Amino acid sequence: MGNIGAAITGVTGYVPDYVLTNKELEKMVDTSDEWIRTRTGISERRILKGEGLGTAYLGTQAVKELLEKTDTKPEEVDGLICATVTPEMFFPSTANMICDNLDIKGAFSFDLAAACTGFLYALEAGANFIRTGNQKKVIIVGADKMSSIVNYNDRNTCILFGDGAGAVLLEPSEDENIIKDTIIRSDGVGKDFIYIKGGGSAYPPTHETVDLGYHHFYQDGRSVFKYAVKSMADVAVEIMERNNLNGDDVAYLVPHQANMRIIEATANRMEVSMEKVTVNIQKYGNTTAATIPLCLWEWEDKFNKGDNIILAAFGGGFTWGSIYIKWAYQPPK
Ligand code: ACO
Repeated sequence: MGNIGAAITGVTGYVPDYVLTNKELEKMVDTSDEWIRTRTGISERRILKGEGLGTAYLGTQAVKELLEKTDTKPEEVDGLICATVTPEMFFPSTANMICDNLDIKGAFSFDLAAACTGFLYALEAGANFIRTGNQKKVIIVGADKMSSIVNYNDRNTCILFGDGAGAVLLEPSEDENIIKDTIIRSDGVGKDFIYIKGGGSAYPPTHETVDLGYHHFYQDGRSVFKYAVKSMADVAVEIMERNNLNGDDVAYLVPHQANMRIIEATANRMEVSMEKVTVNIQKYGNTTAATIPLCLWEWEDKFNKGDNIILAAFGGGFTWGSIYIKWAYQPPK
């Protein structure tokens, strides 16, 4: 104990087939493809269709592929954490259901809610289980079915979000290619700016809460934008400084995909050029806890063992954070 680090040893992602384009949204609300692309960077997003399919389905697809890709048997999994704000149900947890779907028996499993920073919180929590030396294989899932909480009559929010899931496997490592450093933060001031008012213990569902729109996602976008730009850039710069990294040392910045302008501002403050920034917001929009693992999945074949990779996110709560990783393996090219 003490010398054991946590390494990401595999990554997968899953997005549903249905593509919701800006053009289609133009028919649903008073918006335009041009407005959406210039203000957010988004062209289309994926939506999970199908009666009774929720976040456990999305997560199960990603984890199923992860088990196959990393040659991991269900009985070898010690734990699974699912970061989500759109759980399959209140309880049991979505993590419990993903495990059940894949015959992962007896592993610890729980959900973690930290909105768009959820994957970073879950990654650090999972890494700490590995660092104890008691757990050898822990799966971290970021999964959200944002279409289940979005009001498709509200142009302020319905253009932003999509559905998806990503998963990574964490294993112990004694070399330097591990999760090196983490900063995760929160400030409850965000409760007034991003929330779903109804459905919890304060406003349980009634006909009235439905009529009042309390079960839909609300965001004061302009205020959140200001907090997000500053906090995401500050925390990414902080983690670089305390690890003596400059922009040239960073192989890739993997930012949360909420808005192209927030991504560019973060890269700019870090002095990391845009060709080293993973961006798939144009295809998937904001998939909340899934954005970062979906980027890791899509860029995996470009990473090299030992690359310095910085993850950074900001989301509801507010929550925000940054993680510095030395990539642990040479992916198949
Ligand atoms: N189409 C056309 N016009 C629109 C649309 C739309 N879809 N949406 C808003 N507008 C209008 C507004 O009504 C406003 O009109 P007005 O000036 O007449 O009042 C105008 O466009 C500008 O609106 P703003 O809200 O100022 O637009 P902004 O440039 O701030 O972009 C956005 C909005 C994209 C939401 C941006 O503020 C943003 O990205 N915010 C941060 C999002 C974020 O990081 N969230 C955290 C993660 S989410 C989570 O945790 C789950």
